[in-house]
Amino acid sequence: MAKITIFDTTLRDGEQSPGATMSTAEKLRLAIQLDKLGVDVIEAGFPVASDDDFEGVRTIVKEVRRPVIAALARAHPLDVDRAGAAVEAAANPRIHVFLATSDIHLKHKLEIGREECLERVIAGVERSRSLVDDVEFSPEDATRTEVAFLCEVVQAAVEAGATTINIPDTVGYTLPSEYRSLIETLFREVKGLEKTVVSVHCHDDLGLAVANSLAALEAGARQVECTINGIGERAGNASLEEIVMALWVRKDLTEHHTDIETTELYKASQLLSHITGIHPQPNKAIVGRNAFAHEAGIHQHGMLKDRMTYEIMTPEMVGAPGTRLVLGKHSGRHGLRNRYKELGYELEDDQLDRAYKLFTLVADQKKSILDEDLLVILHHGAMVDTPESFRLVELDVNCGGKWSTARVRVSHGDGPPREASAKGDGPIAAVFSAIDELIDATVKIEDFEIVAATPGRDAIGEVNLHARIGGRTFTGRGASTDVVDAAARAYINALNKAEQAEALQGAELEKESHT
Ligand code: KIV
Ligand code: ZN
Repeated sequence: MAKITIFDTTLRDGEQSPGATMSTAEKLRLAIQLDKLGVDVIEAGFPVASDDDFEGVRTIVKEVRRPVIAALARAHPLDVDRAGAAVEAAANPRIHVFLATSDIHLKHKLEIGREECLERVIAGVERSRSLVDDVEFSPEDATRTEVAFLCEVVQAAVEAGATTINIPDTVGYTLPSEYRSLIETLFREVKGLEKTVVSVHCHDDLGLAVANSLAALEAGARQVECTINGIGERAGNASLEEIVMALWVRKDLTEHHTDIETTELYKASQLLSHITGIHPQPNKAIVGRNAFAHEAGIHQHGMLKDRMTYEIMTPEMVGAPGTRLVLGKHSGRHGLRNRYKELGYELEDDQLDRAYKLFTLVADQKKSILDEDLLVILHHGAMVDTPESFRLVELDVNCGGKWSTARVRVSHGDGPPREASAKGDGPIAAVFSAIDELIDATVKIEDFEIVAATPGRDAIGEVNLHARIGGRTFTGRGASTDVVDAAARAYINALNKAEQAEALQGAELEKESHT
């Protein structure tokens, strides 16, 4: 049975998903969950892309010590050096160096010929090897590269010292049979390839990313690059949970295994969607809300007799809670702590305090609290990683007429709450204008979304927004049984992130002026 290396690129390729930008604190929280999940490699970022990316990788490297931490670099000395510096302190550092190899990319993007491409591949891999022992090379757009030239490039990368060779289907173009035979050809034609780990990296433009990845494993690939919930550029990347569970459920056929702790999959999915505000569609395999729901009477009848009539795996295997009525208004702190424990979360005392406070507020609005409500409370309120400098103290809205009006009381730091009122062409616009009266910054909303985070009439509404503040875009998230309240909280969350970013930048400048 061959072990398949799981290379998670949620923090790098996943973050390239529109709207999935994460702060360093959020990246770290996710990296800690990826570590618990048991992924072998975390691609933590693309350090040359921005100072935030560089800091994100450096922070993860310090805190997450078990998995290999990879940093991406183009085959360019500056990129490679920046990636090397970002992973310098890692327990297991890797540089992942890439260069496009298809004619269309060489001609129109890089404006270089094949000769120069080969030279840059060799230089990029050699420079990376001078910094770390573990070097991965990717010929970008490999599946649209002429096969003979791809073999030449891969041969050059192997000879230059790459220890992993990744074959990306960058634009999600290939089909399972074609991809499998490409990997077989490479094994046949490239001398010494069998001494490296061959990796696959598939995008989902044709909905084939998982199928293509599994086909490549049949040809001898031993590393799969994937993301939680399949997020990533355009249609996304191969979904980690689908690959892992396909290998687990069909181990009779594939004879492969991973070191993934499958009961942590749902938690990782939930955490990512709460951080990014991008929720998997309800029918998403493994982690969607309906992945284990049985609607048809005939199915329910079969399930009651034997779950395996209609289930090839149980929700427990992936750590998904069955929707159960659990707690109510009269449940105490102890009951709450226990239920979180059953759901797999050990809360610290201060986290429990915050969760309980929010729980009592929600319980005042809802008759019964579902597990899904508890997860929203946890991710939105109990596990805060942005200091709450601005706080919403009170909110009052009036709507239904031509204009809506809002009155807000907001505190800042240790100061007393201040109050402002405004009108708008809807209650949310009025609330945002009222908050604007109390702050110095100009805020422009670039994107705004309200989703029902839990089922039922009394669902918790979750607001995700992107706000442009001081020349940068920040995500803001808020949740409440009242969507106007959720919107106000999301707005304030974005303000707090902007303030945190400004404070961090100030601290960096201060540090630099002393060095
Ligand atoms: O899709 C792609 O080609 C990539 C590479 C950088 C590996 O993400
Ligand atoms: Zn990619």
